[in-house]
Amino acid sequence: MKTPIQLTINGQLQRLEVDGNTRLLDLVRNQMSLTGTKEGCGVGECGACSVIMNNEAVCSCMVLAAQCDGADITTIEGLAEDALAKELQQSFIEKGGVQCGFCTPGVLISTRVLLGKKAQPTDEEIMDALEGNLCRCTGYQPILKSIKAVICK
Ligand code: FES
Ligand code: FES
Repeated sequence: MKTPIQLTINGQLQRLEVDGNTRLLDLVRNQMSLTGTKEGCGVGECGACSVIMNNEAVCSCMVLAAQCDGADITTIEGLAEDALAKELQQSFIEKGGVQCGFCTPGVLISTRVLLGKKAQPTDEEIMDALEGNLCRCTGYQPILKSIKAVICK
């Protein structure tokens, strides 16, 4: 049975019908073709699927689409024109915070949520915000350096 939902995705109101077992991750990738959001573990442990839901970073693999009625969702594509996200992206490129890139959309989502709440977070606060985002490539220090280069300007 399909459930009708209405939600905002990247600033646009969407009226959709979803199956009971459709995850938010499936909705954004398959129904909306927003493939910047990645599927890694599928069980809430890697953060590759992070999106912003009502101003919080969430693992979209762990949220049912039917639970998103009335929600405000932003995917990595929705940050394309966000000045701070653009600065972060550039800094990640320059400082080696992005290598294979698989974790990067999720890391940027978590970072953007953090900086929306606190413009000058400490190293500890940055690492806390990113604890749900696993990166196999960087060892995290280049990610930290990339973020600090933006916030210390
Ligand atoms: S794919 Fe969602 S947390 Fe890993
Ligand atoms: S850059 Fe490859 S997993 Fe993070």
